[in-house]
Formats: sequence, C-alpha cells, structure tokens
Amino acid sequence: MQKSITRPSSLKGEVVLPGDKSLSHRAAIFNSLAVGRATVTNFATGADCRSTLSCLKALGVALDYSPHPSPTVNIEGRGGSGLREPEDVLDAGNSGTTTRLLTGLLAAQPFLSVITGDSSLRSRPMARIIKPLELMGAHIQGRKNNTLAPLAIRGGDLHGIDYLLPVASAQLKSSLVLAAIFASGPTRLEEPALSRDHTERLLSAMGARIERDGNRLNVFPIEKELMPCSLAVPGDISSAAFWLVAGAIHPGAELKVLNCGVNPTRTGILDILSAMGARLTIVNERSEGGEPVADIIVRSSRLKAARIEGPLIPRSIDEIPVLAVAACCAEGDTVIKDAAELRVKESDRIDTTARELTRLGARIDTLPDGMIIHGPCAFTGATVTGHGDHRLAMTLAVAGIVAAGTTIIKNAQAVDISYPTFWRDLEAVCR
Ligand code: S3P
Repeated sequence: MQKSITRPSSLKGEVVLPGDKSLSHRAAIFNSLAVGRATVTNFATGADCRSTLSCLKALGVALDYSPHPSPTVNIEGRGGSGLREPEDVLDAGNSGTTTRLLTGLLAAQPFLSVITGDSSLRSRPMARIIKPLELMGAHIQGRKNNTLAPLAIRGGDLHGIDYLLPVASAQLKSSLVLAAIFASGPTRLEEPALSRDHTERLLSAMGARIERDGNRLNVFPIEKELMPCSLAVPGDISSAAFWLVAGAIHPGAELKVLNCGVNPTRTGILDILSAMGARLTIVNERSEGGEPVADIIVRSSRLKAARIEGPLIPRSIDEIPVLAVAACCAEGDTVIKDAAELRVKESDRIDTTARELTRLGARIDTLPDGMIIHGPCAFTGATVTGHGDHRLAMTLAVAGIVAAGTTIIKNAQAVDISYPTFWRDLEAVCR
C-alpha cells in the first residue's frame, strides 16, 4: 500500500490516541501470571500487542479480545505456574517487546519454548537478554552464536543476580524483572539511565516487591501469587508524538490529543519540543491505572534547534525519528547524540530516517550514535519508503504535511504495527 500526501491549508481538530503499546503488552503479560480475572480497556490496537496476545494464548492463557465498544482484553490468570508448554513456535511478529519480555518470563517456566518473529525482529540483538538470563541459570540458545532469534528457551530454576545493564533498555530491564520475580533470592539491577518504568509500576500494584533507588532496582521473588489488575490503558505518547510535531511545524495548526499518557519516563518529547519553542499546553491532568494522563494542545510554532542527548534519549527513544522532522523545520543545527540504540530498532533509524528525509530535502549528517540536522530546510515532495518500520512511515507523513508538492509513502501499511487508524486520523485533521 502507498499513500500520497499534499500540504493541507490547516491542521485542526482532536485526536483520540490508540492505547499505549508498552502498557498494553505489560497489562496482558502480567495479568496472565496473576490469579483471577482482569479487564484491560483501551488496549493497544496495533499488531505488536496482538502478537503478545497470541503468544500468551499459545502458552495456555485464557483471554479474549473484543474491539468494540473500546478495545478490551479479558484475562483469566491462573498464577505463576499456570502456563503450559506451547505446542508450536511462538510468533512475536515485529515486536521486540513481546520477544524480550516473554523470554524473561519463559526462562523461569519448567518447559521448552521457541520464539521468533519477522525478518526485522530476527535481526535485532538478543544477547543483551540471553547473557544475564543465563547468569540467572536459564538455558537459552539463539541463532548466530546466541545473539539472534529464533530463541529456544529451556526454562527452569533461576537465582537472583547483581547486574549492571549495558544499555538503558526497558525491554531488557523488564525481561530480567520477569525472571527475577520467579527466582530464588533478590536481584539487583542498575540501569545506565532511567528507562520507562511501566513494569515497576504495574507489577508493584499487583503485589510484587520492587524497590527503586535512583537508577537501581531491587527485585524480590514473589512470595504469594500476583493480584490481577484491571485498568484503562492511557493513550500512547509515542503515537501522540506525530501530532505534536505536525502541529508545531504546520503554519495553520491547532490540534488537541486526548487522554495521553504522560509518565515522566516517556515525556522527553514534551521537554524537547518545549525547549525548541513549540507552543504546547497540557490540560486536564489526571491519573489512570497508576499512570499520569493529560490532554495536550499544540499550536503552530517557530522552532529553534536543540541538543538531544544523555538521559533525554531513553525518555524519547521512539520519538527521535519524528523529532528529526521538527529539527528540519527549526532554525539552527540540532545535535542528537548517545542514541546508538536507534540503530537496532525496527529499522536502523539513524540511517533510514536520514536517508528518507534527505529525499525530501533535509540536510542531515549521520553519526554512529545520532545525527546533526541542519535547519531550517524546505521539504519538497518525493517518493519515500518506510522500510517496513511503522514509526518511519508516520514520520515521513508528518514531513509530507509541510512539503511542497506531493509526497508518496511506500510501505504505508507498516503503521498497523502501532497505530492502525493513523491514516484515517490524518485525513480527519487535514482541512
Ligand atoms: C519498549 C521499550 C523501548 C521502545 C520500545 C518499547 C517497551 O525499547 O523502543 O518501542 O515497551 O519496553 P528499549 O527499552 O529496548 O529501548
């Protein structure tokens, strides 16, 4: 599928976001381990979270998904020992979160599982989870000398470890936490910078003992079964990011994103856009399922360049491609550093973002761990591709909104991974 975009004269309206992807994965996985029934509403509609649901079903979890009136998952958890050996290979599709979180969980289960996914997933680094899980006593084999999926996991008894994570990755942290709650003895984890903390929040609400001290976590084995936790998932700030940037760079814009999760470990995008001069207003702040939520209004803005580095990176990691579009429209040179993790996402996002935005007229130098973006540039429509990467396809659409002429985006169906209604929502706000 391809989409063509021309610059609208204005960008106006309200956007209802899909449920947060990170939280939806976690709500489904953790409630599968609890004893009792949980109902998760506004569950993320993208293919990634459906991959998690189908893997959980293959592990014997009783759950059902209904799309109407709000996407809802009902889960009947049977406790930490309620899973069974899957009869076939688990398919995580495009989802790194599914693969890494489930591998941590399966490392502690007394059976054999094999997990794999699509070609993008099979190229993403898995040694980062295999090594520490093996230190805990797990037996995991992967392709290419234990670095890539498919992974074969022979689960069993685990013990706690003391471990410094080599990267600030919530997927790695969560994988280890899921193993640690079923290990004998406590596990101490230290992150180089704080990554998203949904796992700690939700598992603690379900009765796990997880103590934070700065960037350190102490995770204790669970002594009694987890309690189920029903929740309404807040809207995904990583999906809101496209509207926030589109609204800031388009000269005739006023957009409101509703019900957006604003967990401080995810709000790097708000800090960065504000520092760039974006006119953002945060209203109706409240709390939903133990997570802060708000509505965010964005208006046309005059942007200036920013430095995006250090602890800001894990707080904005999935938003950096679309922030690169903001930087292209900003006055001055934006420097993005410390973001080598972008190279091992659904695509090499340093390379693919720079390459495709350059086709539209951007001036970008790539670095091993980031980019230098020379702004402002005038985007001109061209044919570009999302490289099968959902966030890149949406990033290119945002650039197309302000480009002269027509921008054609190939591989446009990639948005289904995290935001299936993206193209419809875009049409609705373009006037
Ligand atoms: C996620 C964590 C991030 C992010 C991914 C979702 C999660 O990955 O890029 O889209 O749900 O834990 P890393 O933690 O590996 O950086």
